Amino acid sequence: MATYDLVVIGTGPGGYVCAIRAAQLGLKVAVVERRDTFGGTCLNIGCMPSKALLHASELFEEAGHSFAKMGIGVSQPALDLPAMMAFKQQGIDGNVKGVEFLLKKNKIDVLRGTGKVLGTGRLEVTGADGASQTVETKSIVIATGSTVAPLKGVEIDEKRIVSSTGALSLDKVPGKLLVIGAGVIGLELGSVWRRLGAEVTVVEFLDRIVPGMDGELVKQFQRLLEKQGFAFKLGSKVTAVDSSGPMLRATIEPAAGGAAETLEADVVLVAIGRIPYTRHLGLQEAGIATDARGRIEIDDHFATSVPGVYAIGDVVRGLMLAHKAEDEGMAVAELIAGKAGHVNYEVIPSVIYTTPEAACVGKSEEELKEAGIAYTVGKFPFTANGRSKVNQTTDGFVKVLADARTDRVLGVHILGREAGELIHEAAVLMEFGGSAEDLARTCHAHPTRSEAIKEAALSVAKRAIHM
Ligand code: FAD
Ligand code: NAI
Repeated sequence: MATYDLVVIGTGPGGYVCAIRAAQLGLKVAVVERRDTFGGTCLNIGCMPSKALLHASELFEEAGHSFAKMGIGVSQPALDLPAMMAFKQQGIDGNVKGVEFLLKKNKIDVLRGTGKVLGTGRLEVTGADGASQTVETKSIVIATGSTVAPLKGVEIDEKRIVSSTGALSLDKVPGKLLVIGAGVIGLELGSVWRRLGAEVTVVEFLDRIVPGMDGELVKQFQRLLEKQGFAFKLGSKVTAVDSSGPMLRATIEPAAGGAAETLEADVVLVAIGRIPYTRHLGLQEAGIATDARGRIEIDDHFATSVPGVYAIGDVVRGLMLAHKAEDEGMAVAELIAGKAGHVNYEVIPSVIYTTPEAACVGKSEEELKEAGIAYTVGKFPFTANGRSKVNQTTDGFVKVLADARTDRVLGVHILGREAGELIHEAAVLMEFGGSAEDLARTCHAHPTRSEAIKEAALSVAKRAIHM
């Protein structure tokens, strides 16, 4: 029987990073994976394919709308969707092969099949052919991720009624796309298909889009998306989708109750959140506790209720983000190896990869108010940033929130081009407990969009130069 120091179940960003870090620290490691390829949701049907399509569709739209004003004459771009999908697949293949290479390089054994925890030190792996093997290991890390949250009355077939997985592989551009849920997936994949020609309506239960993000940012974000052609039906819910005719017919009701209406669509995308994926793990038999939302319960050191069994990533509490899973993977590997692993949950950036991008790190104004923390605000619009002006990409702004007493930066919110890249200087500053004054006194190269962050920091003390 094979024996290991550590077996990791799942090779998504949480699992593979954990395995590599543990191997670096000298542990004998194996991973268990039931999918044909490594990399989990993120690399196969999540972050990576969506970013490939966001990139390609953004350039498609730019070629049609923005090139002419820069004096670049091109004929109206023609969409070759199969070629765009092949571009997406090449990106996926490159990344999943990269993980395979890294596992090999770090001498990590791969156990193909579905992992089930038998208890402390033991698990079972069942291959696609049904054959099982028992594996002994000092520690087990569960990193089995998440799956699509179902919606009552709406049966996903991944063809016309799709989750994000189907929406990443449609074989033609839908005339009308109805998105259920104005969260990250709805806005990103809604953007892809809108740019390629779909008429997109987003139905959202709450009275705002992207709950959790700073309210002021979200208001401007929604206006910009509407300008691009998004239609939002807020405070509404889809209660049924009739797929018997050539067009889908969705029944939409006000969230607060009232008269229903019907909307027709070629494709309906269900994007109302994700739930932990624990189906094959045998949690109950093994005595591994879960919470009311089905997430595996862990302590501050990622330990489950069964000694020697840990859990990380989407399958546990917290943000369902690849980089959060990765950092937990590294931390738990270090803890298992007897070192001090740690994740700072106060400084985890979030990015929505639309045009413009929306990015934040730390607290929103709403959260600071709710916590009763006195804060100061510094804001700077990209309309006043020289580089944005010359490139004519002036949508959005930077907002820096600092502690009113200590000036320590508590949150940074950016709406604008490349916000997802810009946000990291704020993350580094906050990781080091930096102040708005520190940011304001850091020399920023000119002309860059990053200067807007410096100006927002200057504006905390009411001394922005270009405004
Ligand atoms: P996963 O990546 O879900 O990996 C779990 C792995 O475990 C899978 O490979 C699965 O096959 C395997 N597995 C499950 N059960 C078993 C078992 N019993 N035995 C063996 N193997 C098993 N996050 C971001 O940070 N940025 C983004 O841009 C982003 N975009 C996204 C876009 C979409 C469309 C979606 C759906 C998600 C996106 N996410 C993004 C979220 C991100 O994908 C997840 O947060 C991340 O993948 C979680 O990593 P994980 O390791 O916890 O689990
Ligand atoms: P989400 O939690 O971001 O958004 C779901 C939205 O659906 C919310 O606004 C919610 O209020 C709404 N909703 C819930 N029930 C509803 C109903 N019955 N009718 C109408 N609206 C309803 O979830 P989403 O977009 O599915 O994404 C899942 C996860 O994947 C997210 O938690 C996110 O962390 C991750 N992800 C991250 C990305 C990124 O980092 N760029 C990209 C895509 C996904």
